[in-house]
Amino acid sequence: RDYEAPASMQIEELEKVNLDQDISRRQFPTDFIFGCSTSAYQIEGGVHEGGKGPSCWDTESSTPGRILDGSTGVVACDSYHKYQEDVDIISEVGFDAYRFSIAWTRIFPDGVGEQPNQAGLDYYSRMIDSLLSKGVKPWVTLFHFDLPQALLDKYGGWCSAEIIPAFAAYAEACFANFADRVKNWITINEPTIDLALNSGHRGTLEDSAKINTPERRYVQAHHMLLAHATAAQIYRKKYQGFDGKIGIALDIQGYEPLTDAPEDIEAANTAIAFRCGWLLDPLIFGHYPEVIRKTWGEALPSFTDEESELVKGSIDFLGLNFYTGYYASGKPVENFSNKPAFPVTLPPSVYIGDVRNHVPIGGLSGSGLRIHPKSLETVLLMLKTKYGNPITYITETGFAEVRNPKLSLEEHLQDQDRINFFREHLRAVLSALKGVVDVRGFFAWSLVDNFEWSWGYQYKFGLHFVDFQNNQRRYPKASASWFRKLLTERETHQ
Ligand code: NOJ
Repeated sequence: RDYEAPASMQIEELEKVNLDQDISRRQFPTDFIFGCSTSAYQIEGGVHEGGKGPSCWDTESSTPGRILDGSTGVVACDSYHKYQEDVDIISEVGFDAYRFSIAWTRIFPDGVGEQPNQAGLDYYSRMIDSLLSKGVKPWVTLFHFDLPQALLDKYGGWCSAEIIPAFAAYAEACFANFADRVKNWITINEPTIDLALNSGHRGTLEDSAKINTPERRYVQAHHMLLAHATAAQIYRKKYQGFDGKIGIALDIQGYEPLTDAPEDIEAANTAIAFRCGWLLDPLIFGHYPEVIRKTWGEALPSFTDEESELVKGSIDFLGLNFYTGYYASGKPVENFSNKPAFPVTLPPSVYIGDVRNHVPIGGLSGSGLRIHPKSLETVLLMLKTKYGNPITYITETGFAEVRNPKLSLEEHLQDQDRINFFREHLRAVLSALKGVVDVRGFFAWSLVDNFEWSWGYQYKFGLHFVDFQNNQRRYPKASASWFRKLLTERETHQ
């Protein structure tokens, strides 16, 4: 298919659509940040260019049978060459900020080294300058699943504590080169999902499920926390003069009690303690939650006093990646599971499901997740009451369509479901703000349709359609236009 209309014309066309703009930027605090997110392997391509070394996702996607549609990120959205187009469409929508990740293997092709790779530094430096020239703030994620293959071969990746100084050195190379221009840093994206995806284990999926035991994940997550905290300490000690902030992005979903029964309320609290507390408790309180230690026992590592001090308070802000909500029950219920497809091992008394009395918790998004904006408010309120109201940015939320090659360009661009998704999630944020939750920003996942890990290009999360058959050309969907109206309104109404 050849989709001809230029991107700008598409925007004009879409503006004629009634976008039902019933929330307004003016309802948010004036310094509330709106942005969009991507990650390196999902969009860049250029995997053999600029001296880049292989990451575990290069290995993963080139291993037959690992990616649902047999695709790879070898070209992806070609952002390695088209970053300027990305910057243009970000600024056209009117986003204040762009969250992207740096590929570790562009900076250190083997994961470690004496000198960072200049071509890799130059690529990100150009992009950062270009964003700043358009008034868009760069938000950088350092590790977004694409572990250097060399470190996987050498240390088994996050399984070994040897990775901590390697990550710290990589982080420092990025701070040294970009901290003058990048004021917001996210050390690690979604540790628990990274472990669940279990990338970088060659062989069949069954083999890797055997290798990927819960015990192994506890150790890996432990090292991720220490690596994060070590990088944060370096940043705070040596780069304070730049007046930036450092945080982490955790995937935290909502758990609503199935009924008002005390055991269901307790099950919901326990589920959230496991999903969120596993990593957030150490970051805020310096140790793992007792309830988790009781269930996982000795398999859960412990922090020494010194490590506990290092990890505690090591985030200036929390990045919250939120996508869905579940029901939790304290006893077995039809179609509920104690071992759901879940990156976290639950205690025996907690069952998770998404249907109550035959009514689902929310509509289905294309990726199979239920849409439940109310849970976003629940999670934000929980952060306030349980964790002392940390400064929080929603670093990701979004809606996927399933790829359908039969649709015309016009049909691809009419994504009313995504508009509804964002409108309702922004409403949930407004509601949480009334509860005086310290949420300061909202990043849509994602700027463009991209490589969705083990699912390949099957799920499309983009505000922009990418024509993967024709030079990766970008076209704004109706949702991009919707955001544009929301974001530019400030200028037109004041
Ligand atoms: C979480 C991850 O950070 C991102 O890489 C992924 O594409 C989105 N969620 C959608 O699943």
